Amino acid sequence: MRKAIRILRDEHRSFSAVLQCLQQLTRLAQDPSIKPDFAAFRAMIYYIDAFPERLHHPKEDNFLFARLLRRSDATRPLVEKLMAEHVAGARLVRALERAVLAFEADWPRGAAQFATAVNAYAEFHWNHMRCEEQELLPLAETALIEEDWEAIEAAFAGNADPIADLRDQDFDKLVARIVNIAPAPIGLGEAWKRA
Ligand SMILES: [Fe+2]
Ligand SMILES: [Fe+2]
Repeated sequence: MRKAIRILRDEHRSFSAVLQCLQQLTRLAQDPSIKPDFAAFRAMIYYIDAFPERLHHPKEDNFLFARLLRRSDATRPLVEKLMAEHVAGARLVRALERAVLAFEADWPRGAAQFATAVNAYAEFHWNHMRCEEQELLPLAETALIEEDWEAIEAAFAGNADPIADLRDQDFDKLVARIVNIAPAPIGLGEAWKRA
């Protein structure tokens, strides 16, 4: 497998792990007798905003998708659909940020609305990532040439990325923080207490 594809798939796996963790905590928070630690939700939503929205999707748009459009006109409808989803995804993150603030302010009310926003975001992104892996990547493998892959790989590996430092240092720390504050058995933090 090409290194660029491996990095892209690895990034999808990290993102999926945080989404799954967010969904599990959201299910736990449906019990009105358990007081959630909202810092855990905020840390996960911050990660979702910082990693896929500011780093992963722009790399796809500016390198993988841009090169693919140059080489194959037949891929245009699919590429444009995925690019439009990046824009829609950014709006959904804002909705998620508002939903967690509203839930924290209204707790124990608002759990169902919060779950709706979380599940909508997770479902949207699983469909998006599935489409990239199952439909776009096979097309890219036949349409792109070596020079394209070198440029894409440099971008995905962080070499051409102005915020590469942020990636190495901050995202690992952020994931560690999520694991540390998410309550057992989802993470390593203390279990949420009954109110
Ligand atoms: Fe994407
Ligand atoms: Fe992606």
